Amino acid sequence: MQIAIDGPAGAGKSTISKFVAAEMGFLYIDTGAMYRAIGYKVLENNISLEESEKIDTLAKESNVEIKISDHGQSIYLDGNDVTDKIRTPEVSMAASKVSAIGGVRKTLVELQRKIAGSNNVIMDGRDIGTVVLPDAEIKIFLTATAEDRAMRRYLELKEKGMEVNYQDVLEDMQKRDYQDSHRAESPLKAADDATVIDTSGQTLGESVQVITDFIKSRTKA
Ligand code: DC
Repeated sequence: MQIAIDGPAGAGKSTISKFVAAEMGFLYIDTGAMYRAIGYKVLENNISLEESEKIDTLAKESNVEIKISDHGQSIYLDGNDVTDKIRTPEVSMAASKVSAIGGVRKTLVELQRKIAGSNNVIMDGRDIGTVVLPDAEIKIFLTATAEDRAMRRYLELKEKGMEVNYQDVLEDMQKRDYQDSHRAESPLKAADDATVIDTSGQTLGESVQVITDFIKSRTKA
């Protein structure tokens, strides 16, 4: 069984997916982390985000792996654990930029389909229901107002001890929303057969409950 969860940044996709995966014994695949790993590598190598061809080659030559352990999921880039390093605002923006490059998408989509293989998976991203797993049995498009999503992300970053300002987080989020939904290659949009769920005004805990109930009701049907 395949469950696809798409939506803009900060809608709660990963928290919800992790929870559902643990409840149902599914494999969780965070595709955003893969774009982040490539964005991180581009920044580390001082490559300009405008150099599409170089970035395309870099992605092809990279070894991106998701490893599951007792502590959850870790992302490895060329053999090194980059799980924490890919969560900064700079890497978020770089990931959004590299994800607009067709060749990068092709490389990562191939990898995502390979990991999904014949496992029961819940995969989150921007193009899972539309491109990566078009035959997924359950497709959810999770959304919330930019203000709500920015507030959640702001609190999350602060909790990690990062120096952040709400207005900056909101502006970054709006910029990323625009980039992710206006690119030529697989832009962020709900699949025609996706169920759109708006979690505005809900706490993350409440949205986890709503989505888990929805998925359970669909898997029982
Ligand atoms: O989900 P996230 O915020 O970690 O994703 C980081 C960036 O990667 C996001 O701005 C858009 C891109 N992305 C994508 O284009 N397609 C995906 N399936 C997942 C993420």
